[in-house]
Amino acid sequence: MEENNQATEGGGILGLDVGTSRIVVATGPEPHQAQSQLNAFVSVPYSKMTETILQQNKMVFHRNGKDLFVYGNESERFASFFNTEPRRPMSHGVLNAQELMGQQMIQAIIEQIVPKARNREVLCYSIPGKGEGADSNLVYHEAVLKNILTGLGYNAKAVNEGLAVVFAELQAENFTGIGISCGGGMCNVCVSFLSVPMLSFSVPKGGDYIDASVAAVANESGTRIRLIKEEELDLSRQPKDKVHSALHIYYEDLIHTLITGLSEALASASNLPKLDRPIPIVLSGGTAKPRGFMQKFEAAAKAGDFPVQISEIRLAKDPLTATARGCYIAAMSES
Ligand SMILES: Nc1ncnc2c1ncn2[C@@H]1O[C@H](COP(=O)(O)OP(=O)(O)OP(=O)(O)O)[C@@H](O)[C@H]1O
Ligand SMILES: [Mg+2]
Repeated sequence: MEENNQATEGGGILGLDVGTSRIVVATGPEPHQAQSQLNAFVSVPYSKMTETILQQNKMVFHRNGKDLFVYGNESERFASFFNTEPRRPMSHGVLNAQELMGQQMIQAIIEQIVPKARNREVLCYSIPGKGEGADSNLVYHEAVLKNILTGLGYNAKAVNEGLAVVFAELQAENFTGIGISCGGGMCNVCVSFLSVPMLSFSVPKGGDYIDASVAAVANESGTRIRLIKEEELDLSRQPKDKVHSALHIYYEDLIHTLITGLSEALASASNLPKLDRPIPIVLSGGTAKPRGFMQKFEAAAKAGDFPVQISEIRLAKDPLTATARGCYIAAMSES
């Protein structure tokens, strides 16, 4: 394997967000430093020629018998070179059982940004909450990651992704409120009371679901839809064409699923403490980034009947690093 250690110097206490789309590591005091890698890879048949070209372009790769693998951030450029779709170690928030190279690749990607621990430091990593799509595999997913991180020398502890969002964003509220991460593979929700998770769950809809659904109805590729979504989508404006109107429809569908799931979970929770004041909701994750997302969420929440009072709904400071920052805060408090 080629060496390319862009990892955070030193290997101290770390927070790691292991996401379906991206892996993000955070460290250091506020403002935390964060680095990320795409959780994706591309394989091409081995030839000496291709290997030489990869070396000349300083691309990080891995050779496994007859194939060469390019992974992490480079995979996107490489995939468009070869006009193929990148493969992904995870789907819907957990390791993808259908992807035979998944574990090896996720380990290689993690090792690009997580250096070896010096002295068994605490590293907190995110895991999804239970839900349709992430249930039995969750135990396996959590254990495989723990193995990889323990192998790097860390005292590795799993943290629910929604709770990590609460840690990152609700310090001033004594970690009381609802953290929601709208990611690539899924959405994660956690209701926290004084930093204690009272209830958490996931829904198997996220950016990938939006991309695939819009691609199917608009007869386009998922990658093209993703680029339009990331670069142009404005949910506060009337859709200008068929692709945008399908994006609006699937965004509304995702928000509806989230709000219904949250209302039902709150209504059926038996252990919720009596709240004497309204609590905030923080939205994070790449899928929460388009302009107008928060307003759409707010409107849907007002229309639904929530069993608890909401004081405000706000967007995380940096939606793409909130989970990793929250994991770092969890790791600090465990150390
Ligand atoms: N500006 C943007 N507008 C809309 N969507 C975006 C934007 N930036 C990123 N995304 C989408 O956000 C998703 C990735 O978000 P994020 O990095 O939070 O997910 P993840 O943590 O890797 O996944 P998960 O938490 O579901 O396992 C992708 O679907 C991506 O297309
Ligand atoms: Mg995530």
